[in-house]
Formats: sequence, C-alpha cells, structure tokens
Amino acid sequence: MKLSRRILMLPVSMLLVALLIAAFPNPLSGAEEQHLQGDSPVALVTGSTRGLGEEVASRLGALGYHVIVHGRHVERGEAVVAAIVDGGGSAEFRRADFLELDQVRRLADGILADFGRLDLLVNNAGIGSNEDGRLVSAEGYEPVFQVNYLAHFLLTERLLPLLIDSAPARIVNVSSAAQAPIDFDDVMLEHWEPDGRQIGRPYAQSKLAQVLHAYDMAERLADTGVIINALHPATFMDTYMVRRAGVEPRTTVAEGADRVMQLITDDVGSGHYFRDGEPARAHAQAYDSTARERLRTVSLELIEKAE
Ligand SMILES: NC(=O)c1ccc[n+]([C@@H]2O[C@H](COP(=O)([O-])OP(=O)(O)OC[C@H]3O[C@@H](n4cnc5c(N)ncnc54)[C@H](OP(=O)(O)O)[C@@H]3O)[C@@H](O)[C@H]2O)c1
Repeated sequence: MKLSRRILMLPVSMLLVALLIAAFPNPLSGAEEQHLQGDSPVALVTGSTRGLGEEVASRLGALGYHVIVHGRHVERGEAVVAAIVDGGGSAEFRRADFLELDQVRRLADGILADFGRLDLLVNNAGIGSNEDGRLVSAEGYEPVFQVNYLAHFLLTERLLPLLIDSAPARIVNVSSAAQAPIDFDDVMLEHWEPDGRQIGRPYAQSKLAQVLHAYDMAERLADTGVIINALHPATFMDTYMVRRAGVEPRTTVAEGADRVMQLITDDVGSGHYFRDGEPARAHAQAYDSTARERLRTVSLELIEKAE
C-alpha cells in the first residue's frame, strides 16, 4: 500500500476504534482501571500512619511504588498519603483495626479486588503491650499476639496468590530482638502471671512468632519468586511505642527504616532474620521445625474459628 493511501485511511481506523470503545465500555470501575493500568509496583505497609511504617512508606513512595498506607487513624493516614503525593509519589490509605480479624480479611479482599499486582508486603503494624489492659480482640484472643502476629499471618495467607502472581515479590516481617518462646499450652497467656522481669512476654512471644512465620513461609514459598525475611530494625527508635513505654529512645526511625529498606532493595535471599542490618540468629525455637509447624496449625485453627 502506498504511503499516501495509508495516511488517508488513518482517520477512518481511529473512528472505528472510537466507535468500538463507545459500543463496549470498559467494565472496570474508575478506581480499578487506575490501579490495573498503572505500571508502578504496589506495596502495602501495615501500620504506616506513624513511626517506622510511615518512614518506610514515604521512602517507597519516593522509589516509585504505589503505596497502600494502613492503620486505624484516618487523619494520620491521610496526612502520610498527602506527604507522599506532594513529593511526587502515589499512595492511598486503607483503614483496618487488627484487633478484629474480619477487618483484616476486608483489607486483604479489597486489595485483591482493586489491584492486579502486589510486589511488596511489609508486616509492620505493632503494639508494645496491652495498653493498660484496655485492648480486647474481637475474637477474645490475646491482643498483642493478634495485632503483631496473627493478623499478619491471616493477611499474608490471603494476599499470597496475588504476591505469587506478581513475583518477584517480597514480604518483610518487622519483628524484634525481644523474643520469647511460644508456650503452645498457653498461647493466649491465660495462665501467665506477669512479674517484674517478664513484663514484656506478650510482645516478645508475638515477635518470635513473626520470625517462625518468616522461616516457615520461606520454605513454603521456595521456587515461587516470593522471598520473605524478618528483622529487628533498631533498638528503641524514637517512636510512639517506645515513648509510651517510658523508655528513652536510643536510635532514630531513619536508622530502622534503612534496615527495612535493605530487605526490600538488596540481594538478601529468603528465610533469614536480620538484626541491625546483619544476618543474625533468632531465638532457638525458630529453628525447631516442629514448633514452626505447630504455630502454623494453631494459627490456621485460630483464624478459622474466628471466621
Ligand atoms: N520502636 C522500636 O524501637 C522497635 C524496635 C524493634 C521492633 N519494632 C517494631 O517496629 C514496628 C513499628 O513500630 P513503631 O515503633 O514504629 O511503632 P508506632 O510508632 O507505635 O507505630 C505503630 C503502627 O502500628 C499501627 N497499629 C497499632 N495498633 C494497630 C491495630 N490495632 N490495628 C492496625 N494497626 C495498628 C499504628 O497505626 P494506628 O495508630 O493508626 O492504628 C501505627 O501506624 C512494630 O512492629 C514494632 O514491634 C520497633
């Protein structure tokens, strides 16, 4: 075909395309269309309305991720989103209280419905203690275990198909060096009597559970292209959690965020625990395959019972 004829036919073909679009409108809603058409990698950072999660969310926004900011506090969440967008990034806020497992399910199902990909899950939301004994999980579970570990176990299970479809993808469990073994006869610590030394037991148990989870998932995810690691970011960062406990901060949020980003951007393998930026050994229970399997079974039972 001569060049002049091709040029003459162009407007006709464009008209045809326009007619086709008018006749078969895109069945996706505006929001879905926006998410599915974007090329940006997508990251969910739980507990990113303040502290370490906020800093990590902001760095991911600057790296070009579409960041799903999560927490309970709507105003703080919207402010984190606005700061990312003001900096030229892309973000949105999703609210879910991890003291209610149904809200975790809704958060996950919303992401599955609205996004065609999920490249990164940072399991970061956390509480240091059952604030003055006031917190009660909707399911009647020990609240620190639920927020720090069980909610993230459920979230990860639910989002796994999307993460695998989006591989290479990463999961980071923000754990801690404070680790105590899980007592499988008393996971909810109903028979535990806090004394002066053991005051942080619920927190330490939940944080070790996150390490067992990372090790267990790394085995399950072998050859899927999804990697998972756990870390202790930094000791006593200057955050609400630390200040609320009456502890003088020793490190900055930026230092902790550097360590989390290392597990997001560097070649770090899978199934490892890092402390202050270096591969480290976790509590012995993390290396007990029976304990890991037991925790997985107990966790599945707990989330099923609550469904
Ligand atoms: N700070 C440290 O020195 C230190 C050391 C080692 C490990 N870590 C770990 O680092 C992570 C972040 O801690 P941080 O120091 O940054 O704490 P933080 O400033 O207190 O932030 C905690 C985040 O978790 C969210 N959160 C709390 N309860 C929640 C619930 N029921 N449902 C949903 N989200 C909830 C909060 O959001 P809303 O208030 O909006 O709900 C907030 O965004 C935690 O997992 C912590 O264990 C911290």
